Amino acid sequence: MISFKLILFIFVYDIIHVNGICDSQTGPVGSIECSSNDDFTKKQWNTCLTNNYIQRHSQGRQKCADGNNYCTYACMPEAYYVEAGDVVDTCACNDSLIPPVSSLPTECFSPDGSNCDWYKSCLERKYSCEGTSTEYLLIYTKIFCNLFIKYKNVFTDRALRWIDDGRKCLQMALVQFVRPFINGTCQAIDDAASDAFKSCNLQPYPQQGSICDITRRDWLRAFWMMKSEYNISISTAAYVWLQKALETFYECQNDPQANDFGHVYQEFKLTMDLIQTSWNNQINLNKDQFDQIAIDITHRIAKFLNASPEQWGWYGYGVTLAQQRSNTAYKQMTIVLLVADLSGIVNNTLIPPVNITNIKFNELIEKFKNALIKGDLLIKNDNGTFYASQMGHCMDMKCHATIENISAPPYGSKNDARRIVIKNNNHIHSNWSLISQRVNAQINNKA
Ligand SMILES: *[C@@H]1O[C@H](CO)[C@@H](O)[C@H](O)[C@H]1NC(C)=O
Ligand SMILES: *[C@@H]1O[C@H](CO)[C@@H](O)[C@H](O)[C@H]1NC(C)=O
Ligand SMILES: *[C@@H]1O[C@H](CO)[C@@H](O)[C@H](O)[C@H]1NC(C)=O
Ligand SMILES: *[C@@H]1O[C@H](CO)[C@@H](O)[C@H](O)[C@H]1NC(C)=O
Ligand SMILES: *[C@@H]1O[C@H](CO)[C@@H](O)[C@H](O)[C@H]1NC(C)=O
Ligand SMILES: *[C@@H]1O[C@H](CO)[C@@H](O)[C@H](O)[C@H]1NC(C)=O
Ligand SMILES: *[C@@H]1O[C@H](CO)[C@@H](O)[C@H](O)[C@H]1NC(C)=O
Ligand SMILES: *[C@@H]1O[C@H](CO)[C@@H](O)[C@H](O)[C@H]1NC(C)=O
Repeated sequence: MISFKLILFIFVYDIIHVNGICDSQTGPVGSIECSSNDDFTKKQWNTCLTNNYIQRHSQGRQKCADGNNYCTYACMPEAYYVEAGDVVDTCACNDSLIPPVSSLPTECFSPDGSNCDWYKSCLERKYSCEGTSTEYLLIYTKIFCNLFIKYKNVFTDRALRWIDDGRKCLQMALVQFVRPFINGTCQAIDDAASDAFKSCNLQPYPQQGSICDITRRDWLRAFWMMKSEYNISISTAAYVWLQKALETFYECQNDPQANDFGHVYQEFKLTMDLIQTSWNNQINLNKDQFDQIAIDITHRIAKFLNASPEQWGWYGYGVTLAQQRSNTAYKQMTIVLLVADLSGIVNNTLIPPVNITNIKFNELIEKFKNALIKGDLLIKNDNGTFYASQMGHCMDMKCHATIENISAPPYGSKNDARRIVIKNNNHIHSNWSLISQRVNAQINNKA
């Protein structure tokens, strides 16, 4: 199985001349022929496409001859990013083969990346990835693509450039899958998007809009608008691409204070005691699974606080999963939890350094803190039972430092009139009933 990973090749323009099936001014787009290309050992399929598409897809490395709006693009550079050498079986052809035909409409073949319906009317028409993890990619790409259309008026020009370039770049990374001679899989689509995702956000061709050029306010708007587009009943696994976007933004060198927007947006680091978990060996818990659990916990906290999802945005991701038990006798994990006033995030009057007290938001945050202090944040889900035992207010965007740390009473103390405190628990027993019997025996012996 050949992967679709990007292989870097020499940074030169390759001028492509028009072949028989492809008129330089009229196309037609999508017509296919078997022909020889310089620098390749065998004949391969060539598709008639627009100059605009070829330039974008090859990230400027290839283009039609000057003045030509259409020319053919060979299979190897398009599908495998390879410009010379062998031709793989998928691309190889000979004169006795009839060029394959596609049942997809012509618009599918040479998109400029700005049509957000392309995923549904082209890619998904050929590949039904529902029920696979690729479904989550398609949800994200559609949400991200539509950001440009739906919320155009709330972003700065720099942010619009990032969204527009990024969405085109992501689409370009997937177009080869609609070629009739390419028989990809949902997994291959997912892999191709994974490979392209970072560079499409950091440095999309032609390198106008990078995620690192946008302001923090733009980022908050983009993030929370996208988050709000996710269907409330969708699996938490669907957020994996939104999380990738968040991590990409965090990779930018700027690390502004988290609290610049404190009146509409706050971040917390939450320590959860792992009372019981469905996974027995935490090594097996990967980053995505950890993030999913963090999101689910976050959503349940929001629900517990009666925070309406129309008004308040809640999101979480995993940070550390301890290998050792803490002095609370439980293993712990930390998650970062983000809370936003959704209408405040888009409200132009609420830009710092305006001195505004957001009463409703402050009330919600107070309610959250009080619930923790009272020991109310006990979460049971399919993944186990989790008890929020500590919380700190993040100082910086990545939450390296916290202030205003607060703690909950030890787990179990609420329903346990005679609180059992085990000191020096360097020898940990997993059998709670055995431990409590011993402790009771000690207490009785002393009495
Ligand atoms: C053309 O390719 C097909 C499929 O790879 C192969 O079966 C056939 O023998 C080839 N014909 C010639 C003339 O090489
Ligand atoms: C494409 O892949 C599917 C599933 O793997 C297979 O059933 C089908 O025959 C393949 N088609 C071609 C033209 O290779
Ligand atoms: C959310 O998903 C549910 C279940 O799949 C569906 O019935 C509902 O229409 C969806 N809502 C939106 C707004 O897409
Ligand atoms: C924006 O904020 C101002 C000041 O708090 C408020 O009066 C106004 O209603 C808000 N607008 C929206 C659309 O939420
Ligand atoms: C903001 O409000 C605080 C307390 O109300 C006040 O001390 C401070 O001077 C105000 N800052 C600005 C920039 O208005
Ligand atoms: C957590 O629960 C969800 C929902 O049931 C499930 O899909 C997921 O696999 C669970 N994760 C782990 C690590 O058990
Ligand atoms: C809050 O907790 C964090 C992590 O436990 C710790 O590093 C930090 O020093 C604490 N801050 C204060 C002000 O207690
Ligand atoms: C825990 O200890 C109790 C009392 O000795 C015993 O009855 C029980 O079987 C033990 N449970 C486990 C899971 O070992």
